[in-house]
Amino acid sequence: MEEYNVFDREIINNELDNKIMNKVFIKVYESIDSTNNQAKKYIKSSAFNVELFNKNKLIIFAADSQIEGRGRRGHNWLSSDPASIAVSFLFRPEANVDEIPQITAAAALAVKDTFNFFDLKTVVKWPNDILVNNKKICGILSELVLNKKEEIFVIVGCGINLNNDYFNSEIKEIATSYYLQKAKKINKNLFLARLIEKINFYFDNYLAEKRDQIINQWKETLNLTGKKVDLRHNGKKETVLIKAIMDNGDLLVEFPDGRQKKLQSSNTSLNYQSLDKYNDCSWEGEKNEF
Ligand code: BTN
Repeated sequence: MEEYNVFDREIINNELDNKIMNKVFIKVYESIDSTNNQAKKYIKSSAFNVELFNKNKLIIFAADSQIEGRGRRGHNWLSSDPASIAVSFLFRPEANVDEIPQITAAAALAVKDTFNFFDLKTVVKWPNDILVNNKKICGILSELVLNKKEEIFVIVGCGINLNNDYFNSEIKEIATSYYLQKAKKINKNLFLARLIEKINFYFDNYLAEKRDQIINQWKETLNLTGKKVDLRHNGKKETVLIKAIMDNGDLLVEFPDGRQKKLQSSNTSLNYQSLDKYNDCSWEGEKNEF
């Protein structure tokens, strides 16, 4: 396996400044079922000492290869190729279920910033997919878990396509990687170190009650308000006008007949190509009046 595709705790730690290094604990695996699963098992295991795991700590599970990577809505996440990054961040925000979308939003901003650092511009697709040229470069799966004492923990799992030079036919049309976009490979340890810094920054702000700032930044990044878009809601195709993004991440939309409704990401997906079609003046195709 190429050296730049192998996680190495030493390299990651050496890249981090002392302040961050003292609050993170990194576990790396060559091959594992799923880093989110591993984080869950760890919380429930006897090795886990909750007294040592206060609000500021961050435990990181990173795997070169995942055999049973999980995506949102029960999908699989193909991540057996060590060219990709599978990482889960475990932290203890004293949050409740309603706050999970906000934590995921913070993670999406951190991933976007990290790609920016490596000179790649990305788009955050509602709610939290990271795209380049309308293809997915990163997906995020956040889960809330309780330990034996019913204390709340959050696991934020990121699957990042970094040095992948191909994707199988199943996902070829919808996936891309840093390498396919930039024709450059990055040592995954360096990428993860920068991502840890960014995650730490946003999670710190989250804990410091700066949630409104994070949510506002996320809404601005999504840039959807006032736009017309095709979407699929409960399996049905609709065209709507986006009136607002709610603080809990839901979309407030208006249907052509004037009805308004709040839509959740669990049963709604947006067609981002239609955003260009309806809202970009340079598009030559059919323009429907809304
Ligand atoms: C999605 O877009 O559907 C979310 C994909 C999340 C994949 C990551 S990879 C690391 C972590 N472990 C998992 O099993 N899933 C997440």
